[in-house]
Amino acid sequence: MAESFEIITPLPGTHFGALAQLRKGGAAQAVVAAAEAAPEVLPSALARANGLLLLRGLAAMAGDASLLVRLSRIFGPEVEDYRRTLTSRNQVHETVPEIFIVSNVPPVNRAPPPRPEPPLTSEGRLPVQYPHRVGWHTDQSYRRPPPDISLFLAVAPVSRDQGQTIFASGTLAYAALPESLRRRVDGLEGLHAQPGSGRSRRDARAGTPRRTYAAHERSQRQPVVRTHPVTGAPALYLCEGGQMDWYDGPFVGMEAGPNGEGAALLDELMAHLTRPEFCYVHEWDEGDLQVWDNRCLVHTATWFDAAAQQRVMWRTTVHGNPGPLYAGEKKSWIPELADNSTD
Ligand SMILES: [Fe+2]
Repeated sequence: MAESFEIITPLPGTHFGALAQLRKGGAAQAVVAAAEAAPEVLPSALARANGLLLLRGLAAMAGDASLLVRLSRIFGPEVEDYRRTLTSRNQVHETVPEIFIVSNVPPVNRAPPPRPEPPLTSEGRLPVQYPHRVGWHTDQSYRRPPPDISLFLAVAPVSRDQGQTIFASGTLAYAALPESLRRRVDGLEGLHAQPGSGRSRRDARAGTPRRTYAAHERSQRQPVVRTHPVTGAPALYLCEGGQMDWYDGPFVGMEAGPNGEGAALLDELMAHLTRPEFCYVHEWDEGDLQVWDNRCLVHTATWFDAAAQQRVMWRTTVHGNPGPLYAGEKKSWIPELADNSTD
């Protein structure tokens, strides 16, 4: 059954990622059936491609949302049920609670990120590298254990020169890290905070007063160099302005705050991690599905003209194999499970 999919790697214009397509062709139903019949094929292709796998032509999934959940289950033991994880209901699919909706259309009403300034590089290209490009994160890193994999389906993408998703490989970036930086990050921990919770770099710069956080809302430590539980490869595991704690972090044991020693290190690391040779820009077509591994990739979204275009994307999140570092930990973000004993 392994030959049912053809795996083409890397993705165009980069050094990682793969396209998986049915040799015989076929739409969403056939893709999911083939993936279930040989459940090791797509996860192993994902691992070999350093964490990014593209499938195309799945537009029929929009008419049968359960297909996306079935495909997600191939990639791990637990597909998040967003009704149980403090996610506001307007962002969750009405009948399939494993689907999180990213859209500028009601009832979600999520605005796109702003355009970079200037909008293009001096060579006329889409900016990818931090700090020209911002918003880089790995999904839900403010939770312990953090998730493994996200699946993102273009139900209604915007036109191809807008609303892209950009990925950067933490594996390639770590392998190319200068020795001086590698010594600084090995063993270091970052402090990750939920976006919108008042701990962002912007909050810290503006002097937003700190509030008290309940146990399940607290910032979480994560290794800056994360060992992938499937491949064993080390990868940079970091976010920037909106998803680190800029009051007590961004790094544990370094000078905290938006202008401290930790901030300077984070800026240096993030600029390295998002060097163009470690990045891939995905231009979405309807029915494209990107599967990405949050354990070794960061990503960011780009601007689109929300006044003129409507965008609907569906995401699922797969949990269950964060690696031995997290063995036995209860879900930090669930109030009944969060550890109240430590600050
Ligand atoms: Fe994300």
